[in-house]
Amino acid sequence: MPDTVHVLNGPNLNLLGTREPEIYGRSTIADVEAACRSACERHGLDLVFRQTNHEGELVTFLQEARGSRGVVLNAAAYTHTSVAIADAIKAAGLIVVEVHLSNVFAREAFRHHSFISPVARGVICGLGIDGYRLAIDALATAGGKIS
Ligand code: DQA
Repeated sequence: MPDTVHVLNGPNLNLLGTREPEIYGRSTIADVEAACRSACERHGLDLVFRQTNHEGELVTFLQEARGSRGVVLNAAAYTHTSVAIADAIKAAGLIVVEVHLSNVFAREAFRHHSFISPVARGVICGLGIDGYRLAIDALATAGGKIS
């Protein structure tokens, strides 16, 4: 399904809207999905939008994204801990844009390291839910490649 974009969200992102709104904003996960859906519609792309609180399930979601246009991935806290997720990206040969709502580099030191960045095509952080739309635009236009 090369015309499908998978937007995959990790732990605690189901609580968006009420979770530390001063850091993550007031938009809910449903708002994020709606923004992704309209971005995909604009580009004529299908959308698979998923959230899980479980690391292994995120690995399965990544495996299921094999053959897609690409993945917008906010792995949340697993970004900073998970070799399994980085391995899944490589194993499935995925083009991934890593997204974070908050600017992780302006936060605690443990958020400055990402296991995903070295295997991602690009990284967007600190722009709130707009980051998801920008990531979809990048995957849609140049497949995320610098042109
Ligand atoms: C996050 C940043 C992570 O450090 C954190 O663990 C999250 C959300 C973000 O979107 O800003 O859960 O990925």
